[in-house]
Amino acid sequence: MKTLTITRPDDLHLHVRNGAVLKTVLPHTARQFARAIIMPNLKPPVTTVAQALVYREEILQAVPAGVDFTPLMTLYLTGSTTVDEIEKAAASEHVHAFKLYPAGATTNSDSGVADIKAVYPLFAAMEKHDIPLLIHGEVTDEACDIFDRERVFIDRYLTDIAKNFPGLRIVLEHVTTTEAVQFVQAASAHIAATITPQHLLFNRNALLAGGIKPHYYCLPIIKREAHRLSLVKAATSGNPKFFLGTDSAPHLSSLKETSCGCAGCYSAHAALELYAEAFERVGALDKLEAFASFYGADFYRLPRNSGSVTLEKTTWTVPPVYGENGLSITPLGANEELSWKLKAAA
Ligand code: NCD
Ligand code: ZN
Repeated sequence: MKTLTITRPDDLHLHVRNGAVLKTVLPHTARQFARAIIMPNLKPPVTTVAQALVYREEILQAVPAGVDFTPLMTLYLTGSTTVDEIEKAAASEHVHAFKLYPAGATTNSDSGVADIKAVYPLFAAMEKHDIPLLIHGEVTDEACDIFDRERVFIDRYLTDIAKNFPGLRIVLEHVTTTEAVQFVQAASAHIAATITPQHLLFNRNALLAGGIKPHYYCLPIIKREAHRLSLVKAATSGNPKFFLGTDSAPHLSSLKETSCGCAGCYSAHAALELYAEAFERVGALDKLEAFASFYGADFYRLPRNSGSVTLEKTTWTVPPVYGENGLSITPLGANEELSWKLKAAA
């Protein structure tokens, strides 16, 4: 059987929620990834180091026995974050970044930043203390078309942030457009981007053609084919500025299959397999290891992982749902065939 063995990867953008959902989804991530950058958009959001440490313990409790997994915590930036909290975060071995959500941009972002210029003193503190800023790069302007929100955010905000804080390490999260790829390529080495499996594999037809398919709905929304091609090119180019971040974002199936469905694709069940699919389609499987296991760790100045994972070339069908005791999460690719499968740990 054809196999592919790579250094154990990291997921540099992951939502694991809490409570029963956390218990359902975390084992999926921990069986393949050694570490993950954990998003702080809980209700209420994780805004302090003290809260992040409590959340970290809850995550560790959900790791299956015998599995080695390290959550890398982040804090949710608000208009009331203090410089003192930034100093504490930078000094903490468990907190690795701040996440900027423009207020109202996505799931659980009501406490996000309403006035980006007003938090420039906080960016200055992050730059000084050398803690990365992770950005959900979309404007929330009602007048701006949803398919243009990332491009406009880059023009209206990101260009200025990058210019004013040249030493600040920034990750433009889950890039979805040619413009975002070009921005990151042209920027300094301090600026990188994560790319999700859904944005590599699907264009907006998957969401909107032949019936509306809520499990392909996430933010930033998947775009037209030309953008998908730019993302595939960036991910498989060997440029260390682009690395793996699934943005796996579980929601109960009932909250997605409804008249106002939540944004977020659940991909942790088969994250590496989905990326392998995307890389293989363009003959770039040899580029998967660095994208999944090296560039993200290097950006966050973490040691590269030592173990390995093996994928086997074998066809399997993604189950329709995950979860038990009435909890149901529909995975990305439900009922579809995938051609790579993660080999169970020996
Ligand atoms: C994420 C979520 O559900 O928390 N949703 C999504 O569509 N990606 C939030 C986010 O990363 O935008
Ligand atoms: Zn996210």
